[in-house]
Amino acid sequence: MVKKISMLLLVALLALPLFASGDAENDGRTVVGLSFSDFATERWPREQALLTQLGQESGAQVISQVANQDAKLQNDQIENLIVQGADVIVVIAQDGGTAATAVDIAASEGIPVIAYDRLIKTSNLALYISFNNVAVGRAQAEGILKVQDSGNFVLLGGSPTDNNAYLFRQGQMEVLNPLIDSGQITIVADQWVENWDAANAVTLMENILTATNNNVDAVVASNDGTALGALQALRAQGLAGNVPISGQDATVAGAQSIVDGELTLSVYKDIRLLAPKTMEFAIQLANGDEISDTVDYTLAELTLDENASGSIASFFFPVVQVTEDNLYDVVVASGFQPYDDVYRNVPESQRPPRP
Ligand code: BGC
Repeated sequence: MVKKISMLLLVALLALPLFASGDAENDGRTVVGLSFSDFATERWPREQALLTQLGQESGAQVISQVANQDAKLQNDQIENLIVQGADVIVVIAQDGGTAATAVDIAASEGIPVIAYDRLIKTSNLALYISFNNVAVGRAQAEGILKVQDSGNFVLLGGSPTDNNAYLFRQGQMEVLNPLIDSGQITIVADQWVENWDAANAVTLMENILTATNNNVDAVVASNDGTALGALQALRAQGLAGNVPISGQDATVAGAQSIVDGELTLSVYKDIRLLAPKTMEFAIQLANGDEISDTVDYTLAELTLDENASGSIASFFFPVVQVTEDNLYDVVVASGFQPYDDVYRNVPESQRPPRP
């Protein structure tokens, strides 16, 4: 026990919070820990701000850490949140396998952990809250098929350590498989983009274009960041805007690219619904209350791995495919992305009315 506490203290010293909202002393308020994989994707810092604000509005103290895509550091930071007295911890996992160790430790100390957006592979989770990720993949492939339903297709998957990447791929393949089987579509490249890093996507796409002699008819990419990376490589070959490509997240840059006619589609996931529902569950779990509205899924179903055992209380929000046809209504008029940013490259006279 003493050894364990001193180990935890050591971890606490090594992994001092990069920033904390409120002081770390426990003044009787509920302490909510947030553990982010990274702030490289546009959505995560936004959700960090949102979750912090929501937690504080519920009277909680919120402590937040970011692991810069280092799965081991993230585990240290989660243990550090335990040392700091977290009553509940919300984790956006860098690696759904590695993070299971930290979740198991928290659970053994009676601290509930919520897997936010990305699954962590342990049935010791108190909750998994996310979007319908298989539907994201379906929306990506369907959006591409609407404009290009034959020829040479490239699959650009997400980070191989992110369970979502496989769920997106599952949805994509449900839609593409019949056309692959009939020979209408040929998969000429099938890659995963480590860390969801846009720079990696540029290099991968450059290599694919070289290997295929630019003979690519469509790219099923799994989020806006990697799609925009691939678009950079396509643009260098004069192919941007001619080769359909999918994204996800309805980021500012992604929405701009749709308006500019380069990105074919994105998938809108309203984090303004996900964050409040998460904080509501987090406070209930911290108070030891029962949570409702969840559905139990087996880890085998959630990981697509039939050997995984156990089940997890889960909650999923729906997703919306975004193309140039509905971008204004879904992304701009709803206030998700700012009008001025989305239409930055469009002359004032050709812009839709300001919402
Ligand atoms: C999220 C996406 C995000 C990606 C990269 C995925 O787990 O669901 O919204 O674009 O990670 O951060």
